[in-house]
Amino acid sequence: MSARAHQCRQQGINVLTKNFQHLTKPGRIGSLQIKNRMIVSAMGVNLAEADGSCGERIIAYHERQARGGVGLIVLGVTGVAWPAGANQPRQIAISEDHHIPGLQALVDAVHRHGAKVSAQLHHGGLVAAEDARTGRPIWVPSYPAQGRSDLGESMLMEEIAAFHDPDAPPPQLHVMAQEDINTLVAQFAAAAARAQKAGIDAVEIHAGHGYLISEFLSPAMNQRDDNYGGSLENRARLLMEIIAAVRAAVGRDFPLWVKLDSQEFGRQEGITLADAKAVARMVEAAGVDAIAVTAYHDSDRGVLHSGSHTPQPEEHLVANATAIKRCLSIPVIVPGRIEPASADRHIGQGHFDFLSMGRKILADPDLPNKVVAGTPEQIRPCIYCYCCISQIYVLKSVKCAVNPETAREKELELIATDKPRHIAVVGGGPAGMEVARRLSLRGHRVTLIEASNRLGGTLQFASIPYQPNQRLLKWLRLQIEQSTVNVLLNTTATAQQLKTLGVSEVIVATGAKRIMPDIPGADRDFVFSGDEMRALVMAENDPGLVRKTSALTRLMVSIAAKTGVTSQPALVRLASRVWLPLGKHITIIGAELVGLELAEFLAERSRKVTVIDSSSEVGKGLFLVRRMRLLDELKHLDVTLIKNANDIAIEDKKVAYTNYRGQQRSIDTNHVIVAQGATGNTELAEQLRGAGFSTHTIGDCEGVGYIEGAIEAAAQLAMELD
Ligand SMILES: Cc1cc2nc3c(=O)[nH]c(=O)nc-3n(C[C@H](O)[C@H](O)[C@H](O)COP(=O)(O)O)c2cc1C
Ligand code: SF4
Repeated sequence: MSARAHQCRQQGINVLTKNFQHLTKPGRIGSLQIKNRMIVSAMGVNLAEADGSCGERIIAYHERQARGGVGLIVLGVTGVAWPAGANQPRQIAISEDHHIPGLQALVDAVHRHGAKVSAQLHHGGLVAAEDARTGRPIWVPSYPAQGRSDLGESMLMEEIAAFHDPDAPPPQLHVMAQEDINTLVAQFAAAAARAQKAGIDAVEIHAGHGYLISEFLSPAMNQRDDNYGGSLENRARLLMEIIAAVRAAVGRDFPLWVKLDSQEFGRQEGITLADAKAVARMVEAAGVDAIAVTAYHDSDRGVLHSGSHTPQPEEHLVANATAIKRCLSIPVIVPGRIEPASADRHIGQGHFDFLSMGRKILADPDLPNKVVAGTPEQIRPCIYCYCCISQIYVLKSVKCAVNPETAREKELELIATDKPRHIAVVGGGPAGMEVARRLSLRGHRVTLIEASNRLGGTLQFASIPYQPNQRLLKWLRLQIEQSTVNVLLNTTATAQQLKTLGVSEVIVATGAKRIMPDIPGADRDFVFSGDEMRALVMAENDPGLVRKTSALTRLMVSIAAKTGVTSQPALVRLASRVWLPLGKHITIIGAELVGLELAEFLAERSRKVTVIDSSSEVGKGLFLVRRMRLLDELKHLDVTLIKNANDIAIEDKKVAYTNYRGQQRSIDTNHVIVAQGATGNTELAEQLRGAGFSTHTIGDCEGVGYIEGAIEAAAQLAMELD
């Protein structure tokens, strides 16, 4: 076995998956030649200028993607009637000729790296949040039925405030008349002609995601009784007219395709796969060059916001895409959490033709180059935390939790230092590893000092209840291993030692301090603090555990530690399904990210879990779209969630509290876990400052910021330190 193959096997990577013969081969959509089968899926990232034109920020964002080796970039929602129909304040516009020069500059930047560009022609219809916000008429095929939304249940006050402007005029729905339809068709055609003029290589008509064309296609949303409503042919009429007008505007040879909902999840009367197949056949006959498969959902159900086009379930759209592909002869493009190795296999088996990627590219724009180089282990993994898309929901620019350079390409670019220094990083958690990695890439000499016997810090514990975090842990460890960073494990940093090392700067990334909050009864022996729970699972030494766990538990945990089980989150997850030293009834005090993820983990292991919090808001630390899913999953796992609880006290095998009505209540429980009380801890930093070191702090020692906060602070500091 080659050294490289051996290394891959050790990292659990299947050697066969390193040969991406299908994904890397050139492809064609109509007359458009694409150098490989990898596409940046359309993502509206809220980065355009205030007048809708493409400026430096969005150009830098897309140029970085092109530099990463992708074959084609589809621009996010590009407004054909902008500002009307827009769903983001900084959406790209293509509604006026003055938008052409910015688009041209973007195209030139992308072309320099051999990638092609397509514009996603868009009108938001009912989902045009900007029309709703500014009081413009909201174009709809017909008045929508009033649904009962559960979105508010999962939202924090700050998110509701971003959504809802009390001074905004009331939304005005406008049912489109024939002349509006004619206007819209002409707007799509004119926009396509502008795209062509700007040198854009292709256009994608957005007929999905509940936007205007999709509302016409959807039997649930379209209640018209004229030529544009009722039968499938009638509902598809608007799309067919737009295709014909766009074709006439750009000519037969210009690459043109349609993004189509393959299904509306959770909408009984919504688009079915059979409808989608029929429409796909109609648009193929009308001369489009490909179908981009997507899906939509009942938007009143929070969980479904991660259950259709931007899914939490892996390969959520592949079966629909395969079914659509079977009835067409034009290429099929599909996104939706598909790993490159799997996409390679699907393309090889003829299930679809192009892999479209959204989040994976935000997490690592170099993914295509790494696939071509056969080094998938180097791809920085997306952890499916939904930070990126949740930002858009609250009207902010896109941001990636694991890749702070996304949307800040110029600002955070790693530039070689001309003043290399010796820098110590104390603490080997996500912030420490990330800053060490970045500083060493910039050419500094870095010593990373970790008190325990392995790198990972809180990311190790976070990888147990939420598996995608483990991929980030693995990637960060690999980057450190392959870097020039000198790692000192089992080492407690002291001023003396740092002096001996001769470092010129110190970065403290030692994480949060978890103090047991002042809850009556918290000292009882069936109550675990966050630190004790972590120590139990990670087989770390914690004096408090001796009193609280049986000799058998301690023996099992020590065996797990000695056999290496506790150093591998996947094994801990597996082992805990058969053995978990916790009783049937568990109460978790604290309903933020850690408490809720732990609740899910325990409920999946047949525990009856109650989560209680004095706050009226739950799920802080989770990004909106993921929070909506997790809260729904907890409901299905029969987890009881108690908010607004006062006077929480731990009594004999029960947790007592006063509910929001002022009534005394209690929960019978075998164990209590306190998932609260984490605060910043700058003690070491202050000591080192006192000893004369130039000292910086990042990560949770500055206040809990979770993975996104840790990685962002690391990138910022690595850029600022020169
Ligand atoms: C931040 C963000 C913005 C998105 N905006 C759009 C959009 O403008 N148009 C669109 O068709 N899909 C949009 N999507 C959906 C993506 O095109 C894609 O379908 C989705 O991310 C699933 O692919 P993935 O699993 O590779 O992320 C967006 C997704 C994200 C994460
Ligand atoms: S923000 Fe989270 S979900 Fe979005 S791309 Fe980055 S890691 Fe993935």
